[in-house]
Amino acid sequence: MKIFNLFFRSPPSSTTTATVATIIFLFISTSVNSTANLPKTDMDLLEFPLNLEYFEAEYFLFGSLGKGLDTIEPGLAAKGPPPIGAKQANLSLLIKDVITQFAYQEIGHLRAIKKLVQGFPRPLLNLSAKSFGTVMDAAVGNPLSPPFDPYANDLNYLISCYVIPYVGLTGYVGANPKLESPDSRKLLYGYDKLVAGLLGVESGQDAVIRSLLYERANEKVVPYDITVGEFTQKISQLRNKLGNDGLKDEGLKVPIELGAEKNTQGNVLAGDEDSVAYGRTPQEILRIVYGTGDEKAPGGFYPQGGDGAIAKGYLNP
Ligand SMILES: *[C@@H]1O[C@H](CO)[C@@H](O)[C@H](O)[C@H]1NC(C)=O
Ligand SMILES: *[C@@H]1O[C@H](CO)[C@@H](O)[C@H](O)[C@H]1NC(C)=O
Repeated sequence: MKIFNLFFRSPPSSTTTATVATIIFLFISTSVNSTANLPKTDMDLLEFPLNLEYFEAEYFLFGSLGKGLDTIEPGLAAKGPPPIGAKQANLSLLIKDVITQFAYQEIGHLRAIKKLVQGFPRPLLNLSAKSFGTVMDAAVGNPLSPPFDPYANDLNYLISCYVIPYVGLTGYVGANPKLESPDSRKLLYGYDKLVAGLLGVESGQDAVIRSLLYERANEKVVPYDITVGEFTQKISQLRNKLGNDGLKDEGLKVPIELGAEKNTQGNVLAGDEDSVAYGRTPQEILRIVYGTGDEKAPGGFYPQGGDGAIAKGYLNP
C-alpha cells in the first residue's frame, strides 16, 4: 500500500505513467489480488498478527532447533533485525518434538498472512532469558532468585510459552468481528478462512501447552516455592492488569466461580462465563507484549515496538 501513497503524493510525470501503470497492474494482479478491495482498516487488522507470529516463529524455532528464520526461511524475515538472546532450550525429546512442530506451523502462518497482505519485515524481538525473567518478576511481584531462565528445562520453557501465544490467540478472536468489508468476511469464511484458520491452530497450540502444564500444575518450579499452577495464575493476572480491560485471562486453577459453569476449579482451557474464548484488541495486546501497560510505550519483547499501521499509529501519532 505504500506504493500507492507514494504515487498519490507526487503525481508521476507522463513518461513514467506507463511504468507506474504496469507496476500497479502487476501489483494488483499478483501479490494483493485477493485484498485489492479491502478497506485499509481491514488490511491493518490482518497484518497486525504478524507481530506475534514473528515472535512465536523465532521463539519456537530457536527453542527447539537452536536456529531461526534467518537460517530456515530467510525470505520471511524480510531482512528484519535478528532476535536478541534467542537460543536452544534444554528440552526432552517429547517437548522438543512438540515445539518443533509449533515452530514450523508458525512459518506457515507467516507465509499465509503475507500471501494476503503486504505486511512488514520481522520487528526487533528481545527473546533473552532476561526479557522473560523481567516478565516473571513482574508477575510474581518481586525479583526471583535466581532469575527465571526460560531456556533451562522443559517446565521453564513451557511456562514461558504460556506467556505469549495465548495473547496472539485472544488477538485473533478480537480481530475477527472487527473486519469490516463484505470482502474481508469472504476472506474469513469463504475465500480461504485465514483468520478463522489461524485461530484454530493457535488455540490448538495453547491447548497443548496448557495440557502439558496442567499435568504438572501442583509441581513446584524448582528452585522457587511457587507451583506451576500459581505461576500461570500470576502470569494471567499480570496480563489482565497490563491489558487494562477487565478479566480476559485465567490460569490453570481458578476460583470456582470462574470455572466452567461455576463448577470446576481446574481450568485447562480459559473462557468466559459461557466458556467462549476471550478476545483482545490490538491496543490491549500491545500493552501486554510491551510489558508497559501502554500501547504508546514500547519495551519488553519489542524494544522498538511492533510494526504495521496499527502499532506504528500508536508510536507516531
Ligand atoms: C533485552 O531485555 C532485557 C530485560 O529487559 C534488557 O536488560 C536488555 O537490555 C534488552 N536488550 C535490548 C537490546 O533491548
Ligand atoms: C536440562 O534439563 C534436565 C531435565 O530437566 C536437567 O536435569 C538438566 O540439569 C538440565 N541441564 C542443564 C544444562 O541445565
